[in-house]
Amino acid sequence: MEKGTFLLVSIMIIFALAPVYIKAQGERIVRLEDLDITKITQGWGKPQKNLSVDGNPITINEKKFDRGVGTHATSRMIIDLKGGAKSFSAYVGMDDEIKKEKGSVSFRVYADEKKVFDSDVMKKGDTAKEAKADLTGANFLYLIVTAGGDGINFDHADWADAVIVMDEKSDAMPEAIDQPKKEKYILSPGERGAPRINCPDVIGAGENKDFLYYIPIVGRRPLDVAVFNLPNGLIYDSESNSIKGKTSSKGDCTITVTAKNKFGEDKKSFDLRVGAALSQTPPMGWNSWNCWGCAVDENKIKAAADAMAASGLINHGWSYINIDDCWQGKRDETTKKINSNEKFPDMKELADYIHSKGLKFGVYTDSGTKTCGGYEGSKGFEKIDALRYAEWGVDYVKCDWCNTEGMEPEPAYTIMGEAIKECRRDIVFSICNWGHKNPWEWGAKVGGNLWRTTGDIVDTWESMSKIGFSQARLAQYAQPGHWNDPDMLVIGKVGWGPNLRDSRLTPDEQYTHISLWCLLSSPLLLGCDLTQLDNFTLNLITNDEVLAINQDKLGKQAQCLINENDIQVWVKNLADGSKAVGIFDAADRDILLDDGIEFKLRWEDIKLTGKQNVRDVWKQHELGEWRDAITVKIPEHGVKLLKVTPVL
Ligand code: GLA
Repeated sequence: MEKGTFLLVSIMIIFALAPVYIKAQGERIVRLEDLDITKITQGWGKPQKNLSVDGNPITINEKKFDRGVGTHATSRMIIDLKGGAKSFSAYVGMDDEIKKEKGSVSFRVYADEKKVFDSDVMKKGDTAKEAKADLTGANFLYLIVTAGGDGINFDHADWADAVIVMDEKSDAMPEAIDQPKKEKYILSPGERGAPRINCPDVIGAGENKDFLYYIPIVGRRPLDVAVFNLPNGLIYDSESNSIKGKTSSKGDCTITVTAKNKFGEDKKSFDLRVGAALSQTPPMGWNSWNCWGCAVDENKIKAAADAMAASGLINHGWSYINIDDCWQGKRDETTKKINSNEKFPDMKELADYIHSKGLKFGVYTDSGTKTCGGYEGSKGFEKIDALRYAEWGVDYVKCDWCNTEGMEPEPAYTIMGEAIKECRRDIVFSICNWGHKNPWEWGAKVGGNLWRTTGDIVDTWESMSKIGFSQARLAQYAQPGHWNDPDMLVIGKVGWGPNLRDSRLTPDEQYTHISLWCLLSSPLLLGCDLTQLDNFTLNLITNDEVLAINQDKLGKQAQCLINENDIQVWVKNLADGSKAVGIFDAADRDILLDDGIEFKLRWEDIKLTGKQNVRDVWKQHELGEWRDAITVKIPEHGVKLLKVTPVL
């Protein structure tokens, strides 16, 4: 063969063999964006194929990538490799689309439970890092984006040019799968038939103001109820099961209630503090925002009131039915009185309807010119508005802080606080300025019964746990009549608009949410559709021993006494000398654990000595006497809520 011919033949043979050669290397490639990326869970927005989370071309430090997946912290994708995967590779980084130099993330890759890549913290402007990971023998691939330790804001994160390399001998096709669903499980034992009177130990009432109090009692009907020692001016109306009237007997008066049915009887005394602040215990009720947002209307409010009564929630102490934003119409041209819009044809009739069920009625306004939803605000009309609310029969006013440019919160809330105080009705005053200028320092002085401490909550672990576990520094400000408000509950069906969905919190995260809010003496405002309560949700919010921790008359907010390897122990001193103790798994874990975490709680670490009687509060079950410590198992992101009482 001639030299030239030999070269040509050789080149032809190499080309002919090339595919064989590549096959022999097992280079069958599966691109990440070709999997079902809707299975990705993320803290904000939606996962995008070949684009950033905001829908722009994927760009990391000015380098463009044609392919990949754009997501947002915190994000988790789980891929069932179906056997035969060899490796994973990608370029990772924060997308350039974030205008501010803020935010940070880290990318982590796990082959089953083994971490095989960690980018460490990355910021905007960092060059893409190459993520390479061996997947030999692995069943599952986990792609995680964490918030980088500074919350999820601005965390636009890209998995660019991301591929799974498969062994060519395997024809398996990797598949993105749903996050493991944890079963909803019920801990509360439920009603036992015999009566239980659920009044708090102390109730505040205005002097000479209209008083209406439905007596919450669980137990099989019919009930035989009697009320003793009412002060002058108040009567018990058995038909509505309510205490009504007006009293001028300033000071404390101890009222006793008895209730009997064929299963047993109960007796309870509580102090009526006439002239003291309202909400001597944290307010309990419902607010329209977390479910309906601006899609709220009169029918939805009436349906919530019907459901609060019919579901029996009312007998566990839940009482307020509050309309949030988007009910306002125009002011009257001459009187400047605020009117409701067409979705609320008659506010007085609505208030009467709610009261006829034994419930209380709340509305929302804003300190600025307009509400957050763009409706009429109260700025300059505080007195007129407060009187209007009183005329309708309003019992609770939430006052927001949108559109307040150039205003100082303390003087602004002072004006509304005074306007409310001058009304002839008892009206709870809820300050909602998201913690701006420390409302906990002046909120009580301006007449606030509660004040928001943070921005808005959403139904994710990141949001709920960040808000809840950050309340420790405010403990000293909580007291009867005046409460820190870490925002409304995000359990059940929520949606902030016309379409509702199940809360994204796992069942254990929901136990954490309720337990923590009770320990924190937080206002308890349900944010879900009350007409669609499943058994799990109903049991979460009707456990009277759990709610009693929230309603305890000392009004102390729990303190975090232990924070060890992400286990946090929060302790609330109760009026009877015992302590409510919540042991929480507060970890931001990349991979969900199947089993719980064991924790040994030593009495000395929570300022206790000697033998203690321990009760599991969710189960309402005695765990016996424990000398120096108790070991418990905490579910992932879950809680063990105990009542610990010294054995004398
Ligand atoms: C703010 C408040 C929310 C809700 C909305 C209504 O964001 O913090 O609780 O009231 O406004 O627009």
